Amino acid sequence: MKVAIYIAMSANGQISNSRGVPDWLSPEYSSGFFEICQNTKAVIMGRKTYSILAPDYLPLKEEGTTVVLTTNTKAKPANRTVVFTDEGAKEIIAMLEQKGHTEAVIVGGAYAMTKFIEANLVTEIILVVEPALFGKGLPMFNDIEFTRNLALIGVTPLNSNTVRLHYGVRYE
Ligand SMILES: NC(=O)c1ccc[n+]([C@@H]2O[C@H](COP(=O)([O-])OP(=O)(O)OC[C@H]3O[C@@H](n4cnc5c(N)ncnc54)[C@H](OP(=O)(O)O)[C@@H]3O)[C@@H](O)[C@H]2O)c1
Repeated sequence: MKVAIYIAMSANGQISNSRGVPDWLSPEYSSGFFEICQNTKAVIMGRKTYSILAPDYLPLKEEGTTVVLTTNTKAKPANRTVVFTDEGAKEIIAMLEQKGHTEAVIVGGAYAMTKFIEANLVTEIILVVEPALFGKGLPMFNDIEFTRNLALIGVTPLNSNTVRLHYGVRYE
């Protein structure tokens, strides 16, 4: 199963600033977000990210699967694509495969991305690097020990300030 991470970050690698306001994100990040989610049709996110997006900005509304990691699995989903789960990363991928998905995209936040990179299940990473530096912020991954080697697939300028870095994760 192809599993990508799609995430925006500051030039110093933070995915959120301490204000928690996403006013540093470019329109190109947002259009890329909706495009990759709609093309992939299986989207994985943590509940905090879901709470920012739901209900109006959830990328899948009618078809596909939106997996939300939460301990509150009895919550009411914002639409029919949403599945709340407290399962592990491997079980989530197995569930998506059972539903017929062959690819998925993880759109944040740090908790959700950490669960899947830790389990060696991420095959690609797309970083949208925005022109900002945050002294205080949220790193891409939670504070656990690991190293992953990457292979650069492509570098695409998205506007005069923002660049998209596309990596494959190397497991050999
Ligand atoms: N730059 C970007 O592109 C981007 C994209 C997305 C998000 N973000 C930022 O990332 C931040 C959110 O990231 P985050 O790491 O704090 O949160 P997150 O990954 O979005 O969600 C974390 C949630 O996961 C659930 N969880 C924790 N342990 C669990 C377990 N054992 N089993 C099942 N679910 C569990 C909890 O939900 P419950 O509390 O419901 O149990 C927890 O609140 C925000 O600041 C947001 O702005 C940035």
